Amino acid sequence: MGIRFNEVSHKYSSFSNVNTSAIYQVSLAIDAKDEFIALVGHTGSGKTTLAKHMNALIFPTAGNVEIFGKTITKKRNKDIKYNEIRQKVGLVFQFPEYQLFEETVLKDVMFGPLNFHIDKKEAERLAIDAIKLVGLDESYLNRNPYNLSGGEKKRASIAGILAMDPEILVLDEPTSGLDPAGKRVLMELFLDIYKTTNKTIIIITHDMDLVYEYFSRVVVMNEGKLVYDGTPEKLFKEHDLSKNHLDYPNTVKVLSHLNKTLNLNLNIYQKTAIDAIKEIEKAGKL
Ligand SMILES: Nc1ncnc2c1ncn2[C@@H]1O[C@H](COP(=O)(O)OP(=O)(O)OP(=O)(O)O)[C@@H](O)[C@H]1O
Ligand SMILES: [Mg+2]
Repeated sequence: MGIRFNEVSHKYSSFSNVNTSAIYQVSLAIDAKDEFIALVGHTGSGKTTLAKHMNALIFPTAGNVEIFGKTITKKRNKDIKYNEIRQKVGLVFQFPEYQLFEETVLKDVMFGPLNFHIDKKEAERLAIDAIKLVGLDESYLNRNPYNLSGGEKKRASIAGILAMDPEILVLDEPTSGLDPAGKRVLMELFLDIYKTTNKTIIIITHDMDLVYEYFSRVVVMNEGKLVYDGTPEKLFKEHDLSKNHLDYPNTVKVLSHLNKTLNLNLNIYQKTAIDAIKEIEKAGKL
């Protein structure tokens, strides 16, 4: 069942240019299980707007979004339990400050489960598990989220959504602002959740290296329109990314530079730095 966008447009009422939609006639199908999707696009291309439709945080101004069989349109429908949708599709905000508001990390992460009528003891257990899962130790439980570093806030906000055990997880730039090791730890965590639970996970990112290494499906937004939905490899091979204001992964950039300057014939489509090194070794150039 999952999520299906049917020609969805969204025009913010405060949008300065009346003719511009933040997203325009987007159609997209996402299964409830077994999808690990990267959502990319330049700044302002509509990624966050798209993500906010995935759990009915905002409504389309044209078209509709089907979420687990409920059709979300322009109008609020009193027969739809929006709260239930938001438990099924967990959205981690781009800016963790919007999500953290309790006075301790533990209370913050417990908020979701309590809100969905889980008893206090169980909510606490779920919260502690989720906090550990994102790599924060017990010393963080009673800290004020307001005083955490940017990366720690990000982890706490991710724990808050994990604790609700959603069926689909949507993460808006979860790795931005983290150091390289922290990025990898989180990506491995998401991959692990995906592999062990088969939950669908959608990750918004600007990092094309991560996209190539970790994802088999990538959705590209450009100026509010969905312009690509397929494998990263096909995107890099067949599309001119500069038209979408996107960059190629470092492996592709370095290997194609070597091909050009040293007149080599390396296969430039390597997912990781290690793969790229092996390709150069194979050609007897290392
Ligand atoms: N609440 C709002 N009111 C008015 N305009 C908005 C609002 N939120 C976003 N916009 C506009 O809608 C467009 C799409 O914004 P959105 O946040 O979806 O982009 P994005 O792809 O997530 O960008 P980024 O990579 O910078 O996070 C932008 O032009 C933005 O200025
Ligand atoms: Mg955004």
